[in-house]
Amino acid sequence: MKKWFAVIGDPIAQSMSPEMHGRWFSDNGIDAAYIPVHVTSDRLGQAVEGLRELGCSGWNVTVPHKSAIIEHLDEIDPFARQMNAVNTVKVMEDGSLFGMNTDGIGFVRSLEEQFGNSGKEKNVLLIGAGGAARGIGYALVSEGYGPISCANRTLDKAERLAGELHAEAISIEEAEKQLARFGLVIQTTSVGMNFSAGGAPIDPSEIQAGTIVCDIIYNPLETEFLKLSREAGGHTMNGVGMFVHQGARSFQSWTGVQPDTKQMIDIITKKLGGI
Ligand code: ATR
Repeated sequence: MKKWFAVIGDPIAQSMSPEMHGRWFSDNGIDAAYIPVHVTSDRLGQAVEGLRELGCSGWNVTVPHKSAIIEHLDEIDPFARQMNAVNTVKVMEDGSLFGMNTDGIGFVRSLEEQFGNSGKEKNVLLIGAGGAARGIGYALVSEGYGPISCANRTLDKAERLAGELHAEAISIEEAEKQLARFGLVIQTTSVGMNFSAGGAPIDPSEIQAGTIVCDIIYNPLETEFLKLSREAGGHTMNGVGMFVHQGARSFQSWTGVQPDTKQMIDIITKKLGGI
């Protein structure tokens, strides 16, 4: 029987995952389909049962279901359990549902694909304290990055995340003043996304030239934050790589095949209007 995979979320129509996984299946000669499924929060449990019943082999989970899905799964990877977020489900041979999280490690792989190990041993400034920051923070700690400083508009959320990561919490104002001491700056908030009012969560113009500056947003390809950072001499990376690498980890866990991430980053960048 032809295998099939899915991504569930609300909204889901804008997801680029179907195109990405569809291409990887065909490039690797795997006879499988990947479809977007619109699932509202009140129907999540029924949707999971439906996917299982209909023989889905695995699926990605996106906003707003990453935490809520956990109670519907049979086993959770310890890392995803710590983060309280699952973005990938694999249906095991016995039919049980295994949840994992590839977002944070996807970010780190993308960082290393672009900059090698040069982000290591640097002071890290993590901006934002939501789900995305948590995933990236945990992955950075487990991959030996740091020391980490967490900055967020709402300081007590930064303090909570910093407590979990054994990091320090600082206010946005302090972070702005101290920018020169950070060699790796990672922007994880939604500020600057296409649908938001634009702007930047922090003014990066005081970074040191040569600082690695990442924004996990990929649409637009260059946020205002990234543009200002580049103009200040930063070496910048947008969120396309993280998106592709989280997908690649999911793909690998389902198929055992490591797909071509570099080619996919080029394809998506072009699709979003870049070169
Ligand atoms: P995600 O899962 O994408 O991380 P989230 O959990 O809702 O989403 O977290 C959103 C992050 O963006 C938070 O750090 C939030 O800051 P607050 O904790 O102060 O709310 C940050 N954020 C959202 N809008 C912002 C804005 N206009 N200015 C600064 N930070 C903002």
